[in-house]
Amino acid sequence: MSFTFKDFPADRDDFRSDVLAGLAACPKSIPPKYFYDEAGCRLFESICAQPEYTLTRTEGALMASRLSDIAAAIGPMDCIVEPGAGECAKVRLLLQALHPAHLVVLDIAGGPLSIAAQSLSRDHPGLAVTALGMDFIHDLEAAAPHLPEGRRLIYYPGSSIGNFAPGAATALLTRFRRLAGAAGQLLIGFDLKKDPLQLHAAYNDAAGVTAAFNLNLLERLNRELDANFDTSRFRHYAFYNPTAGRIEMHLASLAAQDVSVAGQRFHFALGETLHTENSYKFRPDEFSALATNAGWPLKAEWELDGFAVQLYGNVD
Ligand SMILES: C[S@@+](CC[C@H](N)C(=O)[O-])C[C@H]1O[C@@H](n2cnc3c(N)ncnc32)[C@H](O)[C@@H]1O
Repeated sequence: MSFTFKDFPADRDDFRSDVLAGLAACPKSIPPKYFYDEAGCRLFESICAQPEYTLTRTEGALMASRLSDIAAAIGPMDCIVEPGAGECAKVRLLLQALHPAHLVVLDIAGGPLSIAAQSLSRDHPGLAVTALGMDFIHDLEAAAPHLPEGRRLIYYPGSSIGNFAPGAATALLTRFRRLAGAAGQLLIGFDLKKDPLQLHAAYNDAAGVTAAFNLNLLERLNRELDANFDTSRFRHYAFYNPTAGRIEMHLASLAAQDVSVAGQRFHFALGETLHTENSYKFRPDEFSALATNAGWPLKAEWELDGFAVQLYGNVD
């Protein structure tokens, strides 16, 4: 068994300055990558198990039912690279089908990633596993020296690409293409446009887990940036914006109130929101246009119950 973990510690000044800049902006916003402290990671896993959040189960069913087609379309592969791998659950299916020699997983939550990757490594004694605790928006290129030569597959499931506005998504996919190298491929899963009420329900689960995930961001600011948010005075507010084709997640202020963060004061008007996440939804052709702009030629695609997986790369 070979397991390596390397942490690229986030610059605490970046966290502080991103949050302060986001709170000073109009409208207020904070980048969604800051959801994922340890509590945020646990809450995200729980969101995936909620009955209304069908995305994870549908993607799993699609991958399981089409695995042999997907593996055949990919062909022989030396290394799988998974950005934002989280608990490293989804890649296990691909490992069974592709048998690569190397797996490189990346996540901003380095602690939970290293535990999940080490456990995966124990289950795959012949696989060389490298876990990189990094913010890939900031540090993706620093992953390159940790990748072996050979055929690389970038695996980006879970519709995580939907957290980026179209221009930023194209820019990220371009960076993934450079990291993948000459014989590189990209296997990516994304959520499709569908009944807005179904989407609305997915981000407003009855058990309140998505609400807790959203509010945990304020608790994280209290814990790590000496903030004094009273979370009972903010409400999780998520809705589908059909014009933009995205779910928007906000925290709405239930009162006119002042909050202090890292020694600075910010005013929230009654009903004002802090925008915390977008989750873009796509038509398959819309997404392939975006990936093509990033230099990825479409190779194959699969679809199940409002979820799509597309394979990009060198077409032989
Ligand atoms: C929506 S979850 C998806 C997890 C898993 N890939 C799945 O499909 O279920 C997003 C994951 O990406 C990670 N993440 C978010 N922004 C990141 C960034 N800028 N750099 C590295 N990891 C990031 C989070 O910590 C989290 O594990």
